Amino acid sequence: MRPTGGAAVTSSEGQPVEQAAISVTALSKHFGSVLALDRIDFEVRPGAVFGLLGPNGAGKTTVIRILTTILRPSAGHAEVLGHDVVREAGVVRRLIGLAGQYAAVDPNLTGRENLRLIGRLTQLPRARIRPRAAALLERFDLAAAADRPVRTYSGGMRRRLDVAAALVPEPPVLFLDEPTTGLDPQSRNALWELIRELVGDGTTVLLTTQYLEEADRLAERVVVVNEGRIIADDSPAALKARLGNTVIELGMGDPARAARAAAALDGRLAQAPEVEGARLRLTSPDGSEALLDVLHLLETGGLVPRTVAVRESSLDDVFLALTGHRTDPPADPAAAGDAP
Ligand SMILES: Nc1ncnc2c1ncn2[C@@H]1O[C@H](COP(=O)(O)OP(=O)(O)OP(=O)(O)O)[C@@H](O)[C@H]1O
Ligand SMILES: [Mg+2]
Repeated sequence: MRPTGGAAVTSSEGQPVEQAAISVTALSKHFGSVLALDRIDFEVRPGAVFGLLGPNGAGKTTVIRILTTILRPSAGHAEVLGHDVVREAGVVRRLIGLAGQYAAVDPNLTGRENLRLIGRLTQLPRARIRPRAAALLERFDLAAAADRPVRTYSGGMRRRLDVAAALVPEPPVLFLDEPTTGLDPQSRNALWELIRELVGDGTTVLLTTQYLEEADRLAERVVVVNEGRIIADDSPAALKARLGNTVIELGMGDPARAARAAAALDGRLAQAPEVEGARLRLTSPDGSEALLDVLHLLETGGLVPRTVAVRESSLDDVFLALTGHRTDPPADPAAAGDAP
């Protein structure tokens, strides 16, 4: 116990200050003339899911590679559980699990052999390896296929095995680079459920995704990255609230009618409508009232819409508002040209 009167007491007695699980400060990365990351800052609290969201080429994998000690930053600083990813790379490696964007398991080994191999490589105590592999195969619904070579697995099974592989050493911090790209909705839901369970057990998860819904469903905080820069850092709910909670989409039949409808509404609403082909899109904080106003204005102008849809705003709408363009549709991993 310190004598009173000392300087700079930063925590109340007996209450350790909560340390960030991941902290990134002014992190930059150049690849030749390409500036892949431009002074990125964020912090992740322990036991949370943190989402790194952005389109192709935004810099998501580069962040993960730096945090998992695969790449060195060009400038700036990053820590995992208080350990510098460059100076203490060896310590960091023992604290993390990584399921990369492209499968890291050996296709010629069985699922079980892959997990046991990773147990040995990560120096899990010998007696723990077999039960750990068996438990993970069970948990990831791979027990029936456990003794088949991985090359006979479906894409979804490989993806699950990949995440299982990252969990073999029971890491307190887990990095998942686009964990559900290429999965069908059922497998995606199953993996989301697993991620929630892991976090319930105290694991910190940083995941990257191009699926706005995924970040929305899992992450308590989301950083949106575009061209190496952070363009938003907030909770999914706050991001959505920024542009109004309701999106009204009107199908006008053809682009000319849509343009006339936009002109008829111009200046009559809080926000100018957005035209996309034959469709008009409006956002509003008070869904139904705005909808009645809009329909009334259009009816007066002889421009009754062909279709009307009212929905909650998605993170995709947020992305559009932040960058001026929608996110690209997620790439088919089998067709991805940038695989190593
Ligand atoms: N080893 C490398 N050499 C040269 N350029 C690179 C290298 N790795 C990444 N880049 C470039 O850095 C930028 C960010 O790439 P990164 O892989 O981090 O994007 P991403 O957000 O993960 O994209 P995706 O959604 O397609 O996986 C891109 O312009 C990419 O071409
Ligand atoms: Mg990537």
